[in-house]
Amino acid sequence: MTLSLENLINQKIAAAFKTLGLDDKYAFVKVSDRPDLSDFQCNGALALAKSERKNPREIAARIAAELEKDGDFAHISTDGPGFINLSLSDDLIARNMDDIAADGRFGVAAVTAPKTVVMDFGGPNVAKALHVGHLRSAVIGESIRRIEEFVGNKVISDVHFGDWGTPMGMILSEIIRQDGSLAKAESYTIEDISEFYKKANIRCKEDEAAKENARVITAELQNGNPEYRKAWLHLRKVSVDAVKKNYKELDAHFDLWLGESDAHETCAEIVKIAAQKGVSEVDDGATIVRLEEANKPKPPVILVKSDGGYSYQVTDIATIKMRVDDLKADEIIYVVDKRQSLHFEQVFEVAEKIGIAPNTSFKHVGFGTVNGADGRPFKTRDGGVMNLENLITLSKDKVRESMPEPDAQYDAAYIENLVSEIAVGAIKFQDLKNNSASGYVFELDDFAKFEGKTGPYIQYAIARINSIIRKAAEAGIKGGGIRISNREERDLALKLAQLNAVVTRAHAESEPSILSDYAYTLAQTFSTFYNASSIMNEEDKTLAASRLKLAGLTRDVLKLLLRLLGIKAPEVMLKKQ
Ligand code: ARG
Repeated sequence: MTLSLENLINQKIAAAFKTLGLDDKYAFVKVSDRPDLSDFQCNGALALAKSERKNPREIAARIAAELEKDGDFAHISTDGPGFINLSLSDDLIARNMDDIAADGRFGVAAVTAPKTVVMDFGGPNVAKALHVGHLRSAVIGESIRRIEEFVGNKVISDVHFGDWGTPMGMILSEIIRQDGSLAKAESYTIEDISEFYKKANIRCKEDEAAKENARVITAELQNGNPEYRKAWLHLRKVSVDAVKKNYKELDAHFDLWLGESDAHETCAEIVKIAAQKGVSEVDDGATIVRLEEANKPKPPVILVKSDGGYSYQVTDIATIKMRVDDLKADEIIYVVDKRQSLHFEQVFEVAEKIGIAPNTSFKHVGFGTVNGADGRPFKTRDGGVMNLENLITLSKDKVRESMPEPDAQYDAAYIENLVSEIAVGAIKFQDLKNNSASGYVFELDDFAKFEGKTGPYIQYAIARINSIIRKAAEAGIKGGGIRISNREERDLALKLAQLNAVVTRAHAESEPSILSDYAYTLAQTFSTFYNASSIMNEEDKTLAASRLKLAGLTRDVLKLLLRLLGIKAPEVMLKKQ
């Protein structure tokens, strides 16, 4: 296994601690807070001194003296209450870059004990076109899925289709109202069904009787009425087909296309278990579980509503049981709007109370909303909800403006594919560039630009290095052993060396923005490097070869980062002259 530079140094520090008879649990470094003074710093002496009631400066001085024996450190100093500042020799950095370039994982450590992680994201609903809110779940979820897989976990993604609640009865009742029966139901397209749903929605808000009718039909559907079930299967199928197309375009991958309906049978089991464990009670006709907390009251969880229907909560609790029993989930990660936090807190708590997932951990990655420039939920120009297809079309139109005319080398199909990769990449990067929990304003003017913190900027950086590599090959320059000859090469190498720490943190925090942020600064660091360090005009051939290899490594790392973000990296980028 190839160690990242940081882990390599950690190993050296741990060895020094051991030699000195010190507890090596404090033996690790972090990237220096003062890059002008040192590359890394070790604050272990402080923690150690505290726990052993010793003088931190003295300990720091002893560790520093021990490390001095290692020629891989160019400069070591101690300062403040016991910080150790470490600067590395150029030779160590160069050697580590060579090792990392030869390693398929670029020095990124895999988890020591792989887990089975079930990922719940997407969460589309029957009859509703995906809108901008669903974008975030698919985009953030897919990135976390890829990160989990990359660190070595077994990931099973499930779209958890919203296919079972009252909206089903609303649509069926609206079809019956208009057609007199469900005879034609199976001929309806997704557009027709969405229309029925919209009308039903308005009607149920205005008319109590219509609402009651929809409720009765939902209950009958759930109880197995064959006529309703047949029509419902069709609604579900056309809806699934429509969202599959969207997710394909977004490059979001789902192993399972299960829905809330699949948990129906297990809901009955949950109700039974809860009763057996004595945690549920009947309250006003509903079956509920009370969650007491010393000073923070939480609303009770409804398992069965007073009309006999299962709640959204019990559906999720039952789904947990299935994921534990059938999929052997060690961890379940939900990527869902943060406004559903309370729902998930309740669901996790009941799952724990009734003991259906004793060895499974849960995580809700809650994200904020996408807003328009006015700070309100993002809408189309005419005020309608911005659905995902409109957004992708809008982004493509923008990108197309900057594309050249097709020619002999790049035909129309090639350009159209490029437009799609850039347009979708731009949308995704904009969604992944901020902390997931915070909402953001959709920057209609800037998100698809080739400069600034955008997806196309990173794609462009990769394509530029591809072109450098092609030109170097034509000039007969081949990548060779890395050596550090100037400040910019050193900065780039040290930046590349952060990859392991960055991926590890993005994984631990389920936070793709850590990767997008790093990709952006890496691309910038490369730019500075390339402006200062010529490859084609460098007379020293071994230096040109070293720089070419560093460029290639940067390209590969940027590609990996885009891959983990779920964004394509086109080989070439075209631009109107
Ligand atoms: N379909 C739900 C909605 O639109 C989201 C589902 C989230 N996942 C879950 N397991 N509850 O609100």
